[in-house]
Amino acid sequence: MANNAYGIDLGTSNIKIYSRNDDVILVERNMIAIENKGGVFAYGDSAFEMYEKAPGNIHISYPLCNGVIADIKNMEMLIRYFINDLSKGSIRPSDYYIAVPSDITEVEKRAFKDLLNKSGIKPRQIMVVEKTIADGLGLGIDVKNAQGILLVNVGYDTTEISILSLGGIVLSRLIKTGGLRFDDAIRQVIRKEHSLIIGGKTAEGVKMELRELTKDGRNAVVYGRDIVTGLPVERSIPTPLIDGALAEQFKMIIDNVRVILERTPPELAADIYRHGIYLTGGASQVSNFAEMMRKGTKLGVNVADNPITSVAVGLSKIIKDANYKSVAYAIEGMSK
Ligand SMILES: Nc1ncnc2c1ncn2[C@@H]1O[C@H](COP(=O)(O)OP(=O)(O)OP(=O)(O)O)[C@@H](O)[C@H]1O
Ligand SMILES: [Mg+2]
Repeated sequence: MANNAYGIDLGTSNIKIYSRNDDVILVERNMIAIENKGGVFAYGDSAFEMYEKAPGNIHISYPLCNGVIADIKNMEMLIRYFINDLSKGSIRPSDYYIAVPSDITEVEKRAFKDLLNKSGIKPRQIMVVEKTIADGLGLGIDVKNAQGILLVNVGYDTTEISILSLGGIVLSRLIKTGGLRFDDAIRQVIRKEHSLIIGGKTAEGVKMELRELTKDGRNAVVYGRDIVTGLPVERSIPTPLIDGALAEQFKMIIDNVRVILERTPPELAADIYRHGIYLTGGASQVSNFAEMMRKGTKLGVNVADNPITSVAVGLSKIIKDANYKSVAYAIEGMSK
């Protein structure tokens, strides 16, 4: 098989890898389960399946934290497994395009390149693309020519708010909130109001179901441990309680968007007014978020068709279309 080109969006919760030869995007949980003895027990979605259920001798973790590589060894291992899966067991020398957060230092950027070099995936060329730029392309925005684009990516533990213009980033702000905080808010309110301790996965499930539940006028049915009796129980939670807990989190993001808007040069502000805000990232799908953003900013809101993969779709365009190649660049000062 011919050499390939891959585009990687290393998310804290989900890793997304575009493979040019198959024209597919792999989406898997960025998780690894390690046995005490040091062997890999499971990775990706199967490691997530075991999360919060595994015995003490199996350690399950996310190697990324706040978009930065916290556990290099495990991250290298995961990348090797996923590229091995995509290349059906025979990893060939290939080009890699990796999306990196826009506000990281040169040293941190080199750490991403280092990661790919040491993963055993035979990189030929490693190119870096700013995540927000790839995101814009993935959402179908002509980032090189468009002026005044406000993009908000709500991920797992970070939310990035950026203003793009003419292929560059004019302003950006990375805040430490996202899907994980939403889950925590749900857990806390259920604990406080219903004396019930629920797991992170249950909370995530409620968050994802919320729109449907609200539409059908149903309560969220959750299982957890009663604080008073210590016994496992089932409870029915009215959705307005959850909406209230999430609204506080949404407000924090909306307040930050307003701060960015206040700092935006007036000419760009006029363009943003015309285009509206672009929302993406998996957690931007949560019930009521887009509506609250619309009300809180008095701007139009464009929601992504594929919010989890928008960055990877942008990378695929860069890989396939020579017109976009100029937004990717090599990192200097590193030997291969
Ligand atoms: N249908 C849905 N409704 C609500 N939330 C969702 C839905 N699908 C996924 N999410 C949430 O989206 C988050 C993951 O989104 P995404 O893959 O964009 O994050 P990430 O790129 O891994 O994280 P980060 O960008 O912070 O590194 C999780 O918190 C998940 O619970
Ligand atoms: Mg992300």
